[in-house]
Amino acid sequence: MEGGNYIKEGADTAKSTCLYFTPKDNDEVGALVRYLELFKEYKVNLLHIESRPSIRFNDRYEFMVECAPGGDLGEAIDKLKSTCEYFSVISRNHYNNRGTVPWFPKRIRELDRFANQILSYGAELDSDHPGFTDSVYRARRKYFADIAYHYKHGEPIPRVQYTKEETETWGKVFKQLVSLYPTHACKEHNHVFPLLIENCGYREDNIPQLEDISNFLRDCTGFTLRPVAGLLSSRDFLAGLAFRVFHSTQYIRHPSMPLYTPEPDVCHELLGHVPLFADPEFAQFSQEIGLASLGAPDDYIEKIATCYWFTVEFGLCRQGDELKAFGAGLLSSFGELTYCLGDKPQRKQFDPEVTALQKYPITEYQPIYFVSESFEDAKEKMIKYAQKIPRKFGVRYNAYTQSIEVLDSKQQVQELLHKASADLFFLNDTLNKITI
Ligand SMILES: [Fe+2]
Repeated sequence: MEGGNYIKEGADTAKSTCLYFTPKDNDEVGALVRYLELFKEYKVNLLHIESRPSIRFNDRYEFMVECAPGGDLGEAIDKLKSTCEYFSVISRNHYNNRGTVPWFPKRIRELDRFANQILSYGAELDSDHPGFTDSVYRARRKYFADIAYHYKHGEPIPRVQYTKEETETWGKVFKQLVSLYPTHACKEHNHVFPLLIENCGYREDNIPQLEDISNFLRDCTGFTLRPVAGLLSSRDFLAGLAFRVFHSTQYIRHPSMPLYTPEPDVCHELLGHVPLFADPEFAQFSQEIGLASLGAPDDYIEKIATCYWFTVEFGLCRQGDELKAFGAGLLSSFGELTYCLGDKPQRKQFDPEVTALQKYPITEYQPIYFVSESFEDAKEKMIKYAQKIPRKFGVRYNAYTQSIEVLDSKQQVQELLHKASADLFFLNDTLNKITI
């Protein structure tokens, strides 16, 4: 074992370094104590300690220690590494450390850490934002940002009492868009939309609650929503998708311009994104994008984010002889939903190799759209593309533990192959029993 993924702690957080290790000689869980002495020797303070069964070595344990900044951490790491069968360090600061892998969440509750990593707080508005000089609107935006900032995984998403004015803004957007969906939206969107009306309170005079929608999506595909306090980095946003978690805003656009918003708002998320996350193929496609991003180098994050942009946000698909929209940016914009299927824009076939390099504007209608043959086809292409990302490990989402398994040992892969062949046997056997 070559020591696993060696990653150092990030300057952007400057908070902690997480070390994962399996010592060569540990045969009891108490062996950890001996290793903790080492941190004392190098004056490294520990914030958190965990022990778990190793998934790489039978009858062994894996330890995780989170170290505070300070002390001689580098020396402690070198010493520890020399006595370990498996060793990895998780860090956001991969820029200055050649050969290191960027930090990514391994457990679903680690998504809570993104709240401290937002690039801008939701209450900060640019000077050209329609609500920039509106103190009431700004206070409202702070209220929503605070909800998201304090949200923790597993909690219900707080219900919001939307004001009359906010509900009217929603109603204007809802009414216009709903009139276009039958002719412009993909069949999957149209299939799910009546269910959202029936189960989640989608109505012209009601802004649905994120909690109700999240529960609905969980039942359909295992996707859930979590409120987001501000702009996340592409890396963090995409990582959420690997867990089938979608970071959603909860505020609504400024009432002075109901058909325009310079940033995602609850109309964009609920009308554009949510219906598709209830579709199993689309959910899997979205998760593949997320999995591809985990631990990927920065240039690939940009490429994957571009593929996300031209599919999940602005994707078109072929259905029969017609083109339909499935991107949330289109399904939440009355103007662009009409424009994207018209004669003006250029359209190309979705191919991650080409799509990933395409430049795009973010404040005007897209001059180019990419057309997917189907969600399954798009998913296969993304999986193929992900194989080219330089990573010395595979990643797999374990839905039982809601965690990412980093596959970097033969034993792990052999066990998974064994399970897969048992599953195939079961399915074949079942198929033989079924007569209809
Ligand atoms: Fe979006």
